[in-house]
Amino acid sequence: MASLHAIARKLVTKGKGILAADESEGTIAKRFALIGLPVTLESRRDYREMLFRSTDAMTNYISGVILTEETLEQKARDGTPFHELLNAADVIPGIKVDRGAFEMPGSRDEKITEGLDGLRQRLAHYAKLGAGFAKWRGVIAISSYAPSRNGIRANAHVLARYAMYCQEAGIVPVVEPEVLADGEPGDHSIQRCEEVTGETLEAVFKELRLAGVDLGGMLLKPNMVTPGIRSRDRVSVAEVAKRTVDKLRSFVPAAVPGIAFLSGGQSDEEATAHLSAMNQIEDLPWALTFSYGRALQTQALVAWGGEDANVGVAQAAFTHRARMNALASLGQWKPELDLAA
Ligand code: 13P
Repeated sequence: MASLHAIARKLVTKGKGILAADESEGTIAKRFALIGLPVTLESRRDYREMLFRSTDAMTNYISGVILTEETLEQKARDGTPFHELLNAADVIPGIKVDRGAFEMPGSRDEKITEGLDGLRQRLAHYAKLGAGFAKWRGVIAISSYAPSRNGIRANAHVLARYAMYCQEAGIVPVVEPEVLADGEPGDHSIQRCEEVTGETLEAVFKELRLAGVDLGGMLLKPNMVTPGIRSRDRVSVAEVAKRTVDKLRSFVPAAVPGIAFLSGGQSDEEATAHLSAMNQIEDLPWALTFSYGRALQTQALVAWGGEDANVGVAQAAFTHRARMNALASLGQWKPELDLAA
């Protein structure tokens, strides 16, 4: 268990956070559509190689990268395995192990994440390949029908079973219950998000405790408390920060070493500003950092555009975003820093 604790703490080292680069083939296709790039094994590899070879960002601001199964076993163009590139930058390779969220039987607007079958064997394999941590995402939608108590309970239960399998394999589970801001219809208020986030976190920690998960050897990857992305409510950065930290304080035990947020459709700058504001709140019992996908990658993806010639500018864009979020994890980000860039 000592090493689980050490890995979890290293992932939330002060001034660093996690890069989520675990887009499924379907999701990366959506991202590449932004730049009109066809999705092939090579284009996915080239894109991720651009990110992982951003040495400044990787060495200074990133503690871990969440990979897909494909990427964990993939090699860069020159034949160097990706996990070696990451190890060389002292970045811990992680792996997304869920098989996606599917419509939940007997329920309306809700999903349940699948992938427990065979997970013990898969985790043993990923551990041999050097994965230090894993991720499983449960999604909780907000609509006039969702979430139901059963939907929350079922997703929480599955997260706890996943987390136990991970710890058994010596892999740190990153437990991700995402209350969707960008689901359908996505027009809910911040109060509704707050209420559902509280119910979800309460259920998740109840199940984690029942299952016997060692809370010191895991990380939580939650949403922030925000209005839905199509809500007309305008809320301040300080309000998001306060409501999010209040909910976390109510339900996340201090034994959990760190909380690494997802960005969930927030703009790059919003995701950074919210994280920085939370880190300015006093007496937080856990480290608060980022585990962003879109909010770390979008500028770099657009700058790259699928062209070798743009790798340098794309890496500069990624490094800038990583640095801004690293500062936010210390509560030291300022809007002027983004403006200046
Ligand atoms: P976003 O930051 O783009 O929401 O992605 C994070 C993630 O890992 C979602 O599972």
